[in-house]
Amino acid sequence: MNKKTVKDVELQGKKVLVRVDFNVPLKDGVITNDNRITAALPTIQYILEQGGRAILFSHLGRVKEEGDKAGKSLAPVAKALSEKLGKEVVFPGVTRGADLEAAINNLKDGDILLVENTRFEDIDGKKESKNDADLGKYWASLGDGIFVNDAFGTAHRAHASNVGISSNVENAVAGFLLENEINFIKNSVDNPTRPFVAILGGSKVSDKIGVIENLLEKADKVIVGGGMTYTFMKAQGIEIGNSLCEDDKLDLAKALLDKAGDKLILPVDSKEADAFAGYNTVQDTNGEAVSAGFLGLDIGPKSIEKFENEINGAKTVVWNGPMGVFENPDFQAGTIAVMDAIANQANVTSIIGGGDSAAAAINLGRADKFSWISTGGGASMELLEGKELPGLTSLTDKTA
Ligand code: 3PG
Repeated sequence: MNKKTVKDVELQGKKVLVRVDFNVPLKDGVITNDNRITAALPTIQYILEQGGRAILFSHLGRVKEEGDKAGKSLAPVAKALSEKLGKEVVFPGVTRGADLEAAINNLKDGDILLVENTRFEDIDGKKESKNDADLGKYWASLGDGIFVNDAFGTAHRAHASNVGISSNVENAVAGFLLENEINFIKNSVDNPTRPFVAILGGSKVSDKIGVIENLLEKADKVIVGGGMTYTFMKAQGIEIGNSLCEDDKLDLAKALLDKAGDKLILPVDSKEADAFAGYNTVQDTNGEAVSAGFLGLDIGPKSIEKFENEINGAKTVVWNGPMGVFENPDFQAGTIAVMDAIANQANVTSIIGGGDSAAAAINLGRADKFSWISTGGGASMELLEGKELPGLTSLTDKTA
């Protein structure tokens, strides 16, 4: 990564502006998954240990009008972060103004402050999300010319709290999380140790077109499972029963199949049920076709064997999207088998591209079996599509 990092700047005594992605799931004010907070700790701790005064920015959810603010304050995050760090996190509860400025000026070396949800600035004219020039300049003015972007999950957005601040400071550098995410995901796709196998799942072809197209160019094999399988099957004239299908994407699926040749590996059977919920019968299909009145909800045993054979010997594996409805024990065998096949490879660099597959690895107890689990959903998808991330490109080049 040809960008300066937090290690390239002098932090002692400096007010250091830090963008993190604390867009964590909350239920009734309780954080239900704090991975993104934990993942940002190394950068935060490093800044504090170096004697910097950390001023953190994050969004939480999407805010269009005043009423959307309910339940989207970062107050619970400030509390959780304080517990993890074992020190006070100053939380003025505002995004601008005299109280925020006074609190920042009161910080001592090694202190930390969290600004309120940056998207509260979206209520009047989407200032944050439209990268309003004055807002970026104002936030940048709160620090001493150093901005650390560690918000990989937001790096595909060009907002005031990442790109806006970057363009108004002398040194805009990457934090450790952003650096790791880029090194693992981008380098694996651009310079993989081969064989490079990509495994893509999830329900919709439309969500993954760009990723499939890019990875067909870069990977040696692209394995496709999950709900989107059935659009590919129907495009080949195979019966899919009541399985999920995007009928408006059949031509596209056919074009992708024609282009991919034997690089694209599809399931050869499914686990089918007579309903998505409240089903009476669950069975393996006999071949690719799904029975009339049934829908495919996981890959079947022959597909598992086929996918395991394709994964065997891989030196780089990128996985994005589950093979079936993994939240239900009846339909998680495919996702588990694929995870275990990846984990069983010797000297493999294995990357999970965020979202549902990250949740599957964590919930099914296999998080420690992978080289890297991304904290980004949309950001990792855009990276896998080969797109530039504005939150990264706006940082200062190493050579500059
Ligand atoms: C995410 O959760 O993917 C990031 O935090 C970005 O959130 P957004 O899609 O609301 O911009």
